[in-house]
Amino acid sequence: MKRILVLAAAVTALFANAQGFPGTKPISFVVPFAAGGPTDRVARDLAEAMRKTLPGGNFVVENVNGAGGTIGATKVAKATPDGHTLLLWHIGMASTAGLYRKLQYKPLEDFEYLGMVNDVPMTLIGKPQLPANTYRDFENYIRANSGKLNIAHAGLGSASHLCGLMWQSAVNAKEAMTTIPFGGTAPAMTALIGGQVDLMCDQTTNTTAQIEAGRVKGFAVTTAGRLNNHKLLKDYPSLQEMGLKGFNLTIWHGLYAPKGTPAPVLKQLNDALKLALKDPEFLKKQEGLGAIVVTDKRMEPEGHKAFVTAEIAKLKPVIEAAGKFAD
Ligand code: MLT
Repeated sequence: MKRILVLAAAVTALFANAQGFPGTKPISFVVPFAAGGPTDRVARDLAEAMRKTLPGGNFVVENVNGAGGTIGATKVAKATPDGHTLLLWHIGMASTAGLYRKLQYKPLEDFEYLGMVNDVPMTLIGKPQLPANTYRDFENYIRANSGKLNIAHAGLGSASHLCGLMWQSAVNAKEAMTTIPFGGTAPAMTALIGGQVDLMCDQTTNTTAQIEAGRVKGFAVTTAGRLNNHKLLKDYPSLQEMGLKGFNLTIWHGLYAPKGTPAPVLKQLNDALKLALKDPEFLKKQEGLGAIVVTDKRMEPEGHKAFVTAEIAKLKPVIEAAGKFAD
């Protein structure tokens, strides 16, 4: 009899969780950049996969761009913590902690960490009209045209901004270029293809198709070594190989809920995320774009938070050395 009662209580608890969430309200993935860009793409692919793994989950993607991702992040930090407003963000969660003197949220205190999604290398690219075809020629061209060129990015704290800062600092070209911010690398890419800006450092998930089609020129990848498994970028040198000692940048995406979201809801979301990360269709799409889907302990909230904590500590001195801050 006692056993039956215990079992009944467990079943009731299970249904209590399932009843309240997800419910009929949509689950919004807030993407803090423009639609059509790399973070938006991850969010849409993940939403599709999680639709299968969280029964009843009706996922929508909401683009809240501006200020390098911090406007969207602030919106989620202040949202009702019921599991219906989530943030899909990248390395900006760690880099903005070093880049901004004032933020409307505390990266390690105002969010529930749900798990990481992927790691994404970046590519240094230029407008198709640039005369350079190799990284070496490109660097020479930058030096010969000091003060005349501009570099696009997706706002202070964006991955493209961080990568551009690190690269300019490594080649000593900080004063050689004007930085042009956009609401995401989707509009920045349009400007690059059109020749309105000269260069950008963007995620492989956004650059591969454009390089392949000849709409932009690729010069180098930002990982320590070449991307040997990538169908196209395996032929491009790494910045380290080109003499930028120690240059190694891979960005990553993670999923967050506002602080105070109930534990059973967090568990449901994390379970659904982990299943989605094994979805063959999701894996195929991500890997085809050069992203590496997370398989390690960073899939768990604790592993995710420990990783971001370490990234904040690692990036702070790098950003300080590159020397640009926002208020
Ligand atoms: C985007 O989705 O537009 C990018 O993630 C922007 C960036 O951080 O460079």
